Amino acid sequence: MNQREAAIRISHLREELDKHNHNYYVLNKPEIDDYTFDQMMAELIGLENEFPEFFDASSPTQRVGSDLNQEFKQVAHKYQMLSLSNTYTEEEVQDFDQRVRKLTDENFEYVCELKFDGISISLTYEDGLLIKAVTRGDGEKGDDVTANVKTIKSIPLRLKGDYPPEFEIRGEILLPFSVFEMLNAEREEIGEQPFANPRNAASGTLKLQNSSVVASRKLDAYLYHVLGDNLPDDGHFELLHHASLWGFKISEHTRKCRNLQEIFDFLREWNVKRKDLPVATDGVVIKINSTRLQKELGFTAKSPRWAIAYKFKAERVSTTLNSVSYQVGRTGAITPVANLEPVLLAGTVVKRATLHNADVIKNLDLHLGDLVFVEKGGEIIPKIISVDLSARHPMSEAVRFIERCPECNSQLIRQDGESAWYCPNETGCPTQLKGKLEHFISRKAMNIDGLGSETIELLFQNNLIHNVADLYELKPGDLINLERLGEKSATRILDSLESSKTVPFERVLFALGIRYVGETVAKKLARELKSIDMIESASLDELMSVDEIGGKIAESIINWFSDDQNKRLIGRLKDRHLNFELKSELKEGQTEKLKGLSIIISGTFEKFSRDDLKAFIELNGGKNVTSISAKTNYLVAGENIGPSKLEKAQKLKIPIISEDELLQLTD
Ligand code: IVH
Repeated sequence: MNQREAAIRISHLREELDKHNHNYYVLNKPEIDDYTFDQMMAELIGLENEFPEFFDASSPTQRVGSDLNQEFKQVAHKYQMLSLSNTYTEEEVQDFDQRVRKLTDENFEYVCELKFDGISISLTYEDGLLIKAVTRGDGEKGDDVTANVKTIKSIPLRLKGDYPPEFEIRGEILLPFSVFEMLNAEREEIGEQPFANPRNAASGTLKLQNSSVVASRKLDAYLYHVLGDNLPDDGHFELLHHASLWGFKISEHTRKCRNLQEIFDFLREWNVKRKDLPVATDGVVIKINSTRLQKELGFTAKSPRWAIAYKFKAERVSTTLNSVSYQVGRTGAITPVANLEPVLLAGTVVKRATLHNADVIKNLDLHLGDLVFVEKGGEIIPKIISVDLSARHPMSEAVRFIERCPECNSQLIRQDGESAWYCPNETGCPTQLKGKLEHFISRKAMNIDGLGSETIELLFQNNLIHNVADLYELKPGDLINLERLGEKSATRILDSLESSKTVPFERVLFALGIRYVGETVAKKLARELKSIDMIESASLDELMSVDEIGGKIAESIINWFSDDQNKRLIGRLKDRHLNFELKSELKEGQTEKLKGLSIIISGTFEKFSRDDLKAFIELNGGKNVTSISAKTNYLVAGENIGPSKLEKAQKLKIPIISEDELLQLTD
């Protein structure tokens, strides 16, 4: 393909991919399947690589994020980002209406819209391109999170239609409930504290330093405020409609209201219907529609005079705190749980509420027997909001966080900067042991058929297993004699243990249950370091040079391998022939001379076509990467190398070599 043809094809693919992103993420109406989308994206990535002169920061390929760590620059807001004053009753909304009517004689309309409970963001567009995304910060200046925001598929990088040359649009970044639940399940699986609600999860995600991780988290965004000079309409409602035509995701539940009654109808309707929404909302925002009138009314020191928030009452009840119990997770993390006098809340009977960690107990100053107020936090997990101090018995006893493990009596420890207390007795605490066994046999790990938590409990009680290596030493006689286990189940379990010896290394690594080594981390480690011996002997720096592995994970791995009991465990599992290295058979001509090297190619070459050069790198064990990061080892530069790639490589001090120099590396 020549340069002209490539330019046409690239522009066509970008338009198509933008359109399908919009159909999928904004309109919820996909027109093509994922496979076709991925094929088009792969073709575009290939062409952009081959013709780097057509680099464009707003290309859909730029949404994948980068694994460069970023510091967030502070940027001043052009227009201050103020908050709204809150109201909680219809009377207060009526007061607001009267205040406004005292300030103006003209007839006006209101707009009611949902108040999304996420992180506010300000986006700046110039000539239809997203150029800046800034968090609210202190209202005057915020963090520049552009790289992370670019990964949010419902935010257009390039606008459609007839947009103003320069404007700002504000909205809310959210993590849908479904993604939040999945994310928390993954965090618990690797022994990380779950996020308390989707807002915290969204905020944590937006501030991640590595934008490729942000890209994997599926944030969403609703926009609700267009700002700028020379906007196409005076009405806020109308401007939002324009914004939807430019490609933004605008809530379809925004409604014009002519009077208080219509506002109250909206409030009552959405107080109920919001429970069916895929994202968290915590109220309704009532705004005057005319932006001219908005300007006339202006602002008080803290908030606009032309808008107000009506906050939904979180469903809240009071009940008695009977006791606090403590759960021990498989990694030893202790979670306190409040046992409550059963009470009906938002349609379900609540008996327990999570207390998360010791700080929560301390901040609430909980006493046994307290009358506590319980709310459904973020509509999901019930939590204690406050204590009715007036109802406290003077002799009541303060809740004191336990000092010893409720299961094995070990002294608990807390690491600097962490909120959770841990039972350090990883190899002796029965609950941790059983938790580790359950994790080991689970579907995503070794997937042992016929074994479940009840059988694990049975085997454990009968002293047949203490750790995962014991599983592989079980004999038919051990199992058949157990109550509830016949010959058939025994055979099934043993067969399944036998066939688990072919489970690939990355899953074995995950199954070991090392703190913070979840499925993805295990995969990355296995791919980069190839064997358990390499992982065991890797230094902190070597571990941290693996994609997505930071200091916390690396330290946890080093700690795990420094324990003799764990070393013995690996030894026993090796004797039983579990997979402890990545299986790879070298093909003809294959070498490992470029092993561990990430190489990017740019431009055109004399001896090789681009595809042949890529194949050559892979044949010699190298990794062919398509975007430059600090972890790239070489840039192989040909004729007409793309200026942006060259500049980036120079900035990151990545060695730039010719194709001949690459050949020398494999000599
Ligand atoms: S309008 C001048 N509309 O609520 C204020 N805000 O306390 C303009 N929010 O910081 C804000 N949904 O993060 C507006 N439909 C909506 C909103 C909304 C959520 C947030 C926003 C703001 C806070 C106000």
